[in-house]
Order: sequence, then C-alpha cells, then structure tokens
Amino acid sequence: MYTISLTPDMQASALVLGCMRLTRLTGSELDQHLKTALELGINFFDHADIYGGNGTCERHFGEWLRANPSLRSRMLIQSKCGIVQNEARQNVAFDFSFGHIIKSVENSLQNLGIEQLDALLLHRPDVLFEPEEVAAAFDELYASGKVRAFGVSNMHSRQIELLQSATSHKLIANQLQFGPGHTGMIDHALRMNTTLPFAGDFDSATLDYCRLHGMTIQAWSPFQSRLIAGTYMDSLDFPELNAALEAVGRKYGITKNGAVAAWIARHPAKMQMIAGTMNTQRLREIAAGMDIPLSREDWYRIYSSEGRDLP
Ligand SMILES: NC(=O)c1ccc[n+]([C@@H]2O[C@H](COP(=O)([O-])OP(=O)(O)OC[C@H]3O[C@@H](n4cnc5c(N)ncnc54)[C@H](OP(=O)(O)O)[C@@H]3O)[C@@H](O)[C@H]2O)c1
Repeated sequence: MYTISLTPDMQASALVLGCMRLTRLTGSELDQHLKTALELGINFFDHADIYGGNGTCERHFGEWLRANPSLRSRMLIQSKCGIVQNEARQNVAFDFSFGHIIKSVENSLQNLGIEQLDALLLHRPDVLFEPEEVAAAFDELYASGKVRAFGVSNMHSRQIELLQSATSHKLIANQLQFGPGHTGMIDHALRMNTTLPFAGDFDSATLDYCRLHGMTIQAWSPFQSRLIAGTYMDSLDFPELNAALEAVGRKYGITKNGAVAAWIARHPAKMQMIAGTMNTQRLREIAAGMDIPLSREDWYRIYSSEGRDLP
C-alpha cells in the first residue's frame, strides 16, 4: 500500500482505520481488528474526542493499547477536537477556544493512555474562532510535546488560509467527506462555467487548494452518501453505482469494497482514505484495492454512474 509523507518524519499509510464505530467491537474483536489492520500495512488511526460519546472510543482503544504497549511505536494516532455535544450526543456548539483545545487534547491523551498525539485536527469549523487563539493553543501543545502536527477537517480553502496566516505550524491535512457516493469536491471542476446540474462550487475549490499547499486530504465516510442513512453499498437507491463498482471490480479482480478504495486512491491528490468498517474481512477487501491502478475510463465510469453524466 502506498504511503504519504504527512510531515518529513511522518510516513502514514494511505488507508486509515477510522475509530468512530469502535465500541461495536468487544475487546477480543477489537484486538483481532487492530492486529489485522497493522498486518495489512495500516499504521494510521483516526479518533475524535466525541466518538462513542465523551471519549468512549478513545478509551476502548486505550485499553487495547495498554494491553499491547509494544505496538504503539508502529502506530500513528490522530484525534480531533472542537465539537461540543450534549448528553444526547447532538452538536450544540463548536469551540476553537484556547482552553477547549488544550483540555480536549489532555483528555484524549488520558483516554488513549499515550504521551503524544501524532496529529490533531480541528473537527468542524467554529465560525467564532480567533486564528491567533488557535495558533497559541497549537504552540503550547507542540512545545509541551503533546501534539506533533496539526490540521483541520471540513474546512474550505479560505478558512484554512485564515488559520494558516496566524500559525507557523504547517497545516498538514484536511479531513473531508469524499467517495463515489459523495463527489462534491470534484463535480464543479468538471462542469466549470456551465449551468449543468452539479456545476456549483460549494467549497471554494478546496481540493485544488489542498493540492497546491501540500495538505493531505483524508476522505471520511467513503462508503456513505448524504442522500441516505447508511451505506450506498448494496443499496437499492444506488443501482447504477453498485453495478459500476461490481463491473470495474471484476475487471481488476477486486470486490466492490476494493473498487471504492481503488477509485479514491486513483485520484492524483494522493488522499488518505478513512475506512470506518469494523468488519475485518471488509477491511482486507478495501486494503486490496488501494494499489490497483484504475484506467481513466473505469474511473469515470464509476464517477458518472448515478446521474452524474459527463459534460
Ligand atoms: N471529520 C469528520 O467530520 C468525520 C465524519 C465522519 C467520520 N469521520 C471519520 O471517518 C471514518 C469513517 O467513517 P464511516 O465509518 O462513516 O465510514 P465508512 O467506511 O464510509 O462506513 C462504515 C460503515 O458502513 C458500513 N459498510 C461499509 N461497507 C459496507 C458494505 N460493503 N456493506 C454493508 N455495510 C458497509 C460499515 O459496516 P461494517 O462495520 O459492518 O463494515 C460501517 O457501518 C470514521 O471512523 C471517522 O474516523 C470523520
């Protein structure tokens, strides 16, 4: 599997295991899943302070780490902060204040039972944020050795520019939803200066911005679409997408899960794909697709299924 230099001394696997659904697994199932991930070449694990509610997923992972301390050095661990939830786990605010960022990282380190996060992302924009305040939090976390590198999530190019203008820490990643069921980042680029459906640029050309500035895009929920609850895989709402994944997958000797991975990996932005599956066999199939070089025709066939006709 290809790797990505997130920083000069941080070589991350292109496939990331997303830890948002970790509480579905018992301790022994988690042990098998995480060891399989490492075996497949996955060395990057994505958390957030809110996953599972109030650090529950981080704590579950932390218990496994405490039982497997020698494996920490083979792992890069990222967490995210900035979303405030109530007890029903609804988002009630976004908070990029100095105090909230510092406290969140301290809690994450305690939950995970580690000394340092390899990366910290700001989870979702706080429109009340003061760039200088975030910069001061980054400085403090870096100086104290609690965080190695910083990035963002769900931020468009102008928001990133504003934050980057205030901090000397190069923002290394932007975590954004992307996959064959969620293609907003590229739709407008294909239909530039037309009035066709999907021509609107809703994200200020963030994909191009990230490429120009050497930020790695981390594609979240690659098997989900905003149009339905749950995955588009095998969904009757997405017959053409499923047929295209099946046909392309068959041609390259991979499953539909692998074809999704190959489709994301084929984009020259060299994204990381964050798979959230807790099914070990599915994780193997996804990993098998990461190094399969799809032809342009096959890539566009998957893209243009489900009504995204090419201009
Ligand atoms: N930055 C953000 O705002 C943000 C938001 C959401 C998520 N994330 C990150 O992205 C990661 C991935 O998100 P996600 O878990 O929503 O992503 P996902 O990988 O798109 O979806 C995983 C879910 O889809 C199911 N699934 C996948 N393939 C399937 C198939 N072929 N057939 C049936 N079910 C299938 C999985 O079930 P099984 O477990 O049974 O396979 C699991 O419930 C998260 O863990 C988190 O780290 C970030």
